[in-house]
Amino acid sequence: MSEGFMEGSLIGRVQTGTPALVCVVGTRPEAIKMAPLILKLRECPDFRVRVLASGQHADMLHQALSDFGIRADADLCVMKDRQTLDHITSAVLEGVGGFLDANPQDMLLVHGDTTTTLSAALAGFYRNIPVVHVEAGLRSRDMTRPFPEEANRVLVDRLATLYFAPTRQSADNLLAEGADARRVFVTGNTVIDALFWTLEHRRETEVLRDVPADAPLVLMTAHRRESWGEPLVRVCKAVRGLLERHAELWVVIPLHKNPVVRNAIREELKNCARVVFTEPLNYPDFVAVMNRSLFIMSDSGGIQEEASALRKPVLILRELSERPEALTMGTGVLVGTNRERIGEEASRLLTDSAWFASFSERGMPFGDGSASKRIVNVIGKYFAAKGFENESNEKNDDEGVPVQV
Ligand code: UD1
Ligand code: UDP
Repeated sequence: MSEGFMEGSLIGRVQTGTPALVCVVGTRPEAIKMAPLILKLRECPDFRVRVLASGQHADMLHQALSDFGIRADADLCVMKDRQTLDHITSAVLEGVGGFLDANPQDMLLVHGDTTTTLSAALAGFYRNIPVVHVEAGLRSRDMTRPFPEEANRVLVDRLATLYFAPTRQSADNLLAEGADARRVFVTGNTVIDALFWTLEHRRETEVLRDVPADAPLVLMTAHRRESWGEPLVRVCKAVRGLLERHAELWVVIPLHKNPVVRNAIREELKNCARVVFTEPLNYPDFVAVMNRSLFIMSDSGGIQEEASALRKPVLILRELSERPEALTMGTGVLVGTNRERIGEEASRLLTDSAWFASFSERGMPFGDGSASKRIVNVIGKYFAAKGFENESNEKNDDEGVPVQV
């Protein structure tokens, strides 16, 4: 645990009788997806809300939090250069555990599937604190893909008390695994709340100043562990091939901070004309770049969800997906990391205008921008009913609202 991680006074039910909630976040996507929920919880006088940063991402976490005007109350600062899974797991477990011992909490909220998510949930579970899993129930059904995220989310769902599933499908996954139906809620994904909030506060970006205003532009991101090495090289070769075939095309690549990934991409695409490399973009700039792009190529989870809400086609650089809604509704195309397949699907989007246009009508499977409000309502009811102990054993169809399709 890092020095001076406890800021401010002792918090929690011991002092005030008001439920004390802690939201633990470690990486960029957790920050972006928890931000709208943190803001909504803080509007509510019924709770005392703290944000605990694990610091798994030293830079990108705080960059994302600050885009929403949020400052972590404490930071465990666990990040090391080229850190191992063992290091993150143990450092976050000890750090969050220490925080909880010093600051008694009535509820611990985690998001998604990172190693911070798993370790924080475990620390809460060990202290018998109700664990709330936001973005629960996603499943690829292959523990090695995405790695280690599929294992993380499966394990967290064994530990959780309340489940906020983004879609009906993710709720059904939980119920099929035996989760208590009274504790599962379909809310939509909070990333859509974050996206809409950011679009409302829209501003111009300078990032694309070198790209001609009428040039076709594609956004590419990649970072997944299972793609390191050959798969990532194939993706880069596909990008190079596209630039060679389409003389007007520009590609913008915001590089992840991970040196393994950024060095590989830079090396493969060095001396390539019409490629714009950037540092990780702040969220408003990234949203502006998504909006300006014709389509997106990415192995990111969150970007698939945002792309569908922005009606942008997304070529998913993965072999399988835990977000089947994008595939069944056709908002994304699973292309894997095969060079030819990526090239074909990208060229089709660039040359077949009817195919490209059809993506604008494919729906919005991941939410309607009100997920955080639904989650706060349920948490309020949870405390009012002392943990739902008096409720009947019915599926909560009326609590979570079916996501917009
Ligand atoms: C992590 C998550 C992944 C999530 C991704 C979002 C795990 C195991 N992985 O992967 O699920 O999709 O975040 O981006 O939880 N680094 C920096 N500064 C930063 C962030 C990272 O320098 O702000 C560098 C460090 O050298 C660090 C390395 O990137 O050791 C890898 O970070 P890590 O969190 O282990 O893995 P990610 O690939 O970022
Ligand atoms: N994002 C960002 N700046 C960037 C790249 C991504 O703000 O330069 C946002 C993106 O809009 C999405 C989230 O970061 O909300 C996705 O993070 P990432 O791809 O790192 O993780 P994943 O979603 O795959 O876990």
